[in-house]
Amino acid sequence: PEMVTVKTLAEKLNKQTSDVVKSLMLKGIMATANQEIDFDTASEIALEYNVLLEKEPEQDLVEAFFAEEPDDEKDLVTRSPIVVVMGHVDHGKTSLLDAIRESNVTSREAGGITQHIGASVVTINDHDITFLDTPGHEAFTAMRLRGAMATDIAILVVAADDGVMPQTIEAINHAKAAGVQIIVAVNKIDKPGANQDRVKQELVEYGLIAEDWGGDTICVPVSAIEKTNLDQLLEMILLVSEMEELKANPNKKASGTIVEAQLDKGRGPVATVLIQNGTLKVGDSIIAGTAYGRIRAMIDDKGRRVKQAGPSTPVEILGLSEVPVAGDAFFTAKNEREARHVADKVIEKNREKLIQNTPQKVTLDDLFNQ
Ligand code: GTP
Ligand code: MG
Repeated sequence: PEMVTVKTLAEKLNKQTSDVVKSLMLKGIMATANQEIDFDTASEIALEYNVLLEKEPEQDLVEAFFAEEPDDEKDLVTRSPIVVVMGHVDHGKTSLLDAIRESNVTSREAGGITQHIGASVVTINDHDITFLDTPGHEAFTAMRLRGAMATDIAILVVAADDGVMPQTIEAINHAKAAGVQIIVAVNKIDKPGANQDRVKQELVEYGLIAEDWGGDTICVPVSAIEKTNLDQLLEMILLVSEMEELKANPNKKASGTIVEAQLDKGRGPVATVLIQNGTLKVGDSIIAGTAYGRIRAMIDDKGRRVKQAGPSTPVEILGLSEVPVAGDAFFTAKNEREARHVADKVIEKNREKLIQNTPQKVTLDDLFNQ
């Protein structure tokens, strides 16, 4: 691997190729311009020209791999919003999503796969919205914590008969830490004990002041069961996303986040990924933490096999070496070899960290030999 052509070496040294060929000849090495010489020979030659040749540290190669090149403004196109639904247990997050899906995508709704992958795309007036449900999955805790880049808008579901609860507060903190705009959906307004004002009152303490209370937090009273005000909620999501001017570059290799992952008996490691930039294609090689592999198949949120998927799209992928960690970022490599190489380096790095953090063991031998 550490080989360089005579020509490249000459260029790096700012010399004529013929000069380098001559220097090599004096060392008894007959080489043509396009011939490769090893690192040691190259550095000996370089020394003759007073240049110290240094090996590029591997670590830098890995860092360079993960460093994202900035997009050219002209490559950017509008992408649909990614909306995470958060809130306290049983406040109606899934019901709200079900109601939204039913009332808008009834035909595509059957099949159960949508729930299985936890991410779904809903089309409203020709606009797509990608929803991420957050059930009790541990998977999602990781994602909320690292979610700064993953979502654009958070729907905070608060049951009107229960009010602000511990997980409501946790959700607010996660959304704030991620810098995600919060839209409050005060749910279950059909219930006898519902009290919207109490919810708004309680939210003030956490810095969320409703618009009709003089603040700038959008609060939409809804009922998932009676399907009240769902249109208004969707309208607000589209309005906020328009203001955020969400853009992505579909003409590059994909990167994004692992939403969910598990080991499937028949299919091996299966991961749901959310593409945040670029386009992911079957045959691409990706890396996520220490997991890597060439994508064998992709399935969209409606259960259809797809060959490629663009920004803001959730897809299920097959072909990884192991089950990746939910919340981890994924990147596309040039080929499977590069993916494996980077994964190996990440494993190595993790091991080094592990060793550094392991307290040193003192054996009896050590004690007696002092
Ligand atoms: P977790 O995923 O466990 O955190 O719960 P969740 O927030 O997804 O709540 P889910 O949608 O499972 O709803 C919990 C219960 O509340 C169910 O029995 C729903 O039928 C009920 N529910 C949800 N929304 C409404 C609503 O608008 N009105 C009434 N009356 N009940 C509701
Ligand atoms: Mg749920």
